[in-house]
Amino acid sequence: MKAVGITGVGVYLPEEVVTNKDLEEMVETSDKWIQTRTGIRERRVANRETDTSDMAISAAKQALNDAGLAAKEIDFIIVATATPDHAVPSVACLVQQALGIEDVPAMDVSAACSGFIYALVTGKQFIETNTYEHVLIIGSEKFSKIVDWTDRNTCVLFGDGAGAVILSEVSAGKGILSFELGADGRGAEHLLVSSESGYVEMKGREVFKFAVRQMPESSLEVVRRAGLTNEDVDFLVPHQANLRIIEAARERLSLAPDKVAATVKWHGNTSAASIPLALFAELQAGKIKDEDIVVMVGFGGGLTWGAVCLKW
Ligand code: ACO
Repeated sequence: MKAVGITGVGVYLPEEVVTNKDLEEMVETSDKWIQTRTGIRERRVANRETDTSDMAISAAKQALNDAGLAAKEIDFIIVATATPDHAVPSVACLVQQALGIEDVPAMDVSAACSGFIYALVTGKQFIETNTYEHVLIIGSEKFSKIVDWTDRNTCVLFGDGAGAVILSEVSAGKGILSFELGADGRGAEHLLVSSESGYVEMKGREVFKFAVRQMPESSLEVVRRAGLTNEDVDFLVPHQANLRIIEAARERLSLAPDKVAATVKWHGNTSAASIPLALFAELQAGKIKDEDIVVMVGFGGGLTWGAVCLKW
């Protein structure tokens, strides 16, 4: 089977920064509470004119450029999002149109914050089986439009943004070595976007308990499936929801603090966009190097989870 890996990365972050101090003016909260409970200091919020597809398109263009590919070389577009511009058409079709790519399949994946990993694993299958050469994977979210800005339980947590990667064949031994995907619909009620209010509703503590168990377990599982141990892991890129959850995963993998992405401080929880946004930041910072063993792991509404272990 072909080795499949990430050959280009791109991101989009809205310009407007909303700090914890700004939120103190809007709801009864404090910078101290938010930082202690979540690690978040600020988040980006997209303006009225910028929707999920706009952010996805910007991130995709940067990823194509990074991979040295023309848009027409893309064979399949998958967008992970919980905040599409419309129920129909998909964000992926809007991306296809904007990039001027004709006829290739395009679809959205709905797996909340695990969506990026679900999309990555789906795209990988098509390259491995020689169906497609290059797949564009995007995580893009505008949570600010589904957050009730008067509800302190949720509005302090989320942010907007997008991240994109190109999946292509890489040298043997590199790329995605193993994966795990999972879902447990019994926890569906713990995190949902209400069809009545249109807002995110969350039983924070239930999601927290699930996440601190699932993120370390999934991380260790993909490492095991790759025939490795936690000592082989060079870098962890977890879904960025809460610093305490990230810390739990880091400790279970016995990784040093500088071996884990923690962009949640600056981005908040950007749902399906958080892993590619964090990946990009750590690549820019030179933290992930050639041949490093990297684990990416996500969890989210559904409940869902997913992880990949890859050799960079
Ligand atoms: N400011 C001040 N107080 C607050 C705030 C706030 N922004 N939000 C809640 N509180 C209050 C609560 O009302 C509660 O008060 P009470 O005891 O009088 O009822 C108190 O703080 C403590 O609440 P807890 O639920 O115990 O707080 P906890 O330590 O669990 O932290 C948090 C809450 C941050 C939401 C945590 O549970 C968490 O991170 N959960 C996971 C959430 C998550 O990861 N969600 C994303 C999933 S990914 C996806 O699919 C989108």
